[in-house]
This record gives sequence, C-alpha cells and structure tokens, in this order.
Amino acid sequence: MTGFDITAEARRRLVLGGALIASAAIAGAARAHDRTDTDPRVLDGNPMPEPPADKSAGPVRPGRGSALAGKLALVTGAARGIGRAIAVEFAANGADVVCLDICGPVSPASNARPATPAELDETVSQVRGYGRRAEGVHADIRDITQLRSTAGIIERDVGPLDIVVANAAIQRWKPLLEMEDSDWRDVIDNNLNGTANTVRVFAPGMVARKRGRFILLSSMQGKHGTRNAASYSASKWGILGLMKSAAMELGEHNITVNALIPGLVDTPLTRYETRLRNSMAEQGVTPPAHPTPQEAWDNRAPTVPLKVGWLQPDDVSPAAVFLASDAAAMVTGAEYEVTGGDSAKDI
Ligand SMILES: NC(=O)c1ccc[n+]([C@@H]2O[C@H](COP(=O)([O-])OP(=O)(O)OC[C@H]3O[C@@H](n4cnc5c(N)ncnc54)[C@H](O)[C@@H]3O)[C@@H](O)[C@H]2O)c1
Repeated sequence: MTGFDITAEARRRLVLGGALIASAAIAGAARAHDRTDTDPRVLDGNPMPEPPADKSAGPVRPGRGSALAGKLALVTGAARGIGRAIAVEFAANGADVVCLDICGPVSPASNARPATPAELDETVSQVRGYGRRAEGVHADIRDITQLRSTAGIIERDVGPLDIVVANAAIQRWKPLLEMEDSDWRDVIDNNLNGTANTVRVFAPGMVARKRGRFILLSSMQGKHGTRNAASYSASKWGILGLMKSAAMELGEHNITVNALIPGLVDTPLTRYETRLRNSMAEQGVTPPAHPTPQEAWDNRAPTVPLKVGWLQPDDVSPAAVFLASDAAAMVTGAEYEVTGGDSAKDI
C-alpha cells in the first residue's frame, strides 16, 4: 500500500456524492489534492511531485473555482459593450469591480461615438445590482502617469486587485494609403501602448502578492489581416505578442496573462453604417449604400458556423470569468476565441 491508495469505487462515490468531502483517512491518503486519478502517483517507487495549491486548478468539485467570490477586478473600457458585460458578469460571479473608462472622445481616429459618464454610471449600477462593490474611475489608458496614480488610489482605498481586464480600444476603418498619420499612430498608441501601460502599471502589485490574472482583449482581426483597418489589426496582433511575452515574464510570480479573442460583436464599436457595409463587403458582396442591420445580418449569418450575423457582448464575458477564475490556474499565454465559429475558418 502506498500513501495514495484509494479504491476507484470509493473515489467514484465521493465524486457522485457531490461535495467530495474526504474522510480523515482519505484526506491523509490524498495529500494536498483530492484528484480524480486513482493510480498511485509514483514512478518506479518514487512519488510524483505534488504541485502546491496555487499551482493547480485543484480537484474536481461542483463549481470549482469558477466563481470569483472575494476577488477584486478592474476592467478598462467598462462604460459599455464588452467591457460592461465583463464587469457585470464578474459581479454576477461574486467579484467586486473597478470600472475604468475615459468617458469621452479618445481620438478623431475612432469611428465609434465617444462613451459618456452616464454609461459608466450605468455599468457601476449594474455591478451593484448584484450586491457587489463597484467604483467608477475616469482615466485614460494612454496616460501612464495618471494610470499609476489611479492604481495607487485603488490599492489604498478599494483593495488589492486580483484580476485586470485590458479591454479599452478604438477602431479606425480607412484604406492604408488614405490614412492620416493620426489614423495609424493614435490607434496603435491607444490600443497597443494603452494595453501595455495597463499591464505595466498593475503588474507590480500582483508580483508583490504573488498572484494575479490579466486578460487582454485582442480580436480575430488581430489574427488575420483586415482590409481597410490595418492599424486596428496591427494593434490587436501586437497585443498577442505582448500577452505571450508578459505570460513568460510574469509566470514565475504566479500571474497568468491570456488573450480573449471575440469575433464580430454588436457594440458601439461596430454599430454604424460603414461597419455594416464593411461586414457585407468582407463576404464578397457589393453592399447597398445604406444597408439595414437585418440585411447585414442575413448576409453574414450563413457564413458563420453557428449561423449568427454577430455575437452579443454577454456571449463573450463568460470566457473572461473562466480566465479570471482559480479554475484557470494553469492557463497562461493562451488565446481564447469566442467567435460563433469564425475561428474554425479564419486563422
Ligand atoms: N465589438 C467587436 O466586434 C469586437 C471584436 C473583437 C474584439 N473587440 C475588442 O473588445 C474590446 C471592447 O470593444 P467594444 O466592442 O466593447 O468597444 P466599445 O467602443 O463599445 O467600448 C470600448 C470602450 O473603451 C473605452 N476606451 C477607449 N479608449 C480608451 C482609453 N484610452 N482610456 C480609457 N477608456 C478607453 C471607450 O470609451 C469605450 O467605452 C476592444 O478591445 C475591442 O478591440 C471587439
């Protein structure tokens, strides 16, 4: 008998029993983790190393680690769209949330209307609707000095952050050769430099605490080229390089860094006529001058494996909950795609 012997049947009954509450004897036998594998964890009589609890997603149990109770998260670009959905979904899963947004114009090199303070207030109110603490912060991710002082205030007045979602971004639709200098520079500065600022500002606190989760919003347009949106594509491609590099550097501090990659999602970033026309043109059809949303949906849906014209923000946010959770302890440097199936055909 080794210290790990426990019969398969005993293990099965415990799992089926739900709570997997081990008896004293079994707890002793299972050591740090009570896992589903029943083989003795030995090789040629030598015990296999047992990972420490914070270096593993832990044993199977109902709802394991998928709740975010007791966690404090920060979401940038939280006034609306995917950022709001992630903030509210985090709250629904038990996290307190700091909701950060510029709440105003970012650059003329943005096709979307500016977000408003009222929209950020609405996100805060929806988070509080789940009984969670929420703070709204007006800040610009491009301004690293302002971001550093914001981080200091959050740590002092709200608490240590467990999770940071770098979501804020803008998009520019213009042919490469017609771009103003600012159409290139401002999109890269906002999306890539702003995301890097977010990681560089909030990582040191996590390093000191030896735990943390970063989720960086990239895009399917960061995985393939995009006709007439080169600066956006390049910024989102760059975020993948940032994510993988940060994952390599921060892993030893028990911090995970992953990219969440949505397909086309209906938000103010995408809800305007030029975007509808672009979405139809991407399918190889000549769009009418003024397509209706229904025409754009009908045109695109047949090409998407799950047969939707586009996704909703709260189709994307559950994946952020997983990446933020204890259950994703061993997921880092990874890309998590939520695309309705576009990722099956796009690279
Ligand atoms: N909507 C889509 O189809 C789609 C697809 C793939 C990826 N994404 C990505 O998802 C993320 C969210 O997009 P969305 O569609 O919800 O966009 P959105 O325009 O609805 O929301 C973006 C938010 O970011 C904020 N923001 C922008 N720059 C900022 C700055 N410098 N400082 C602070 N806040 C700033 C805006 O004010 C806005 O509230 C982005 O990173 C985007 O690239 C979106």
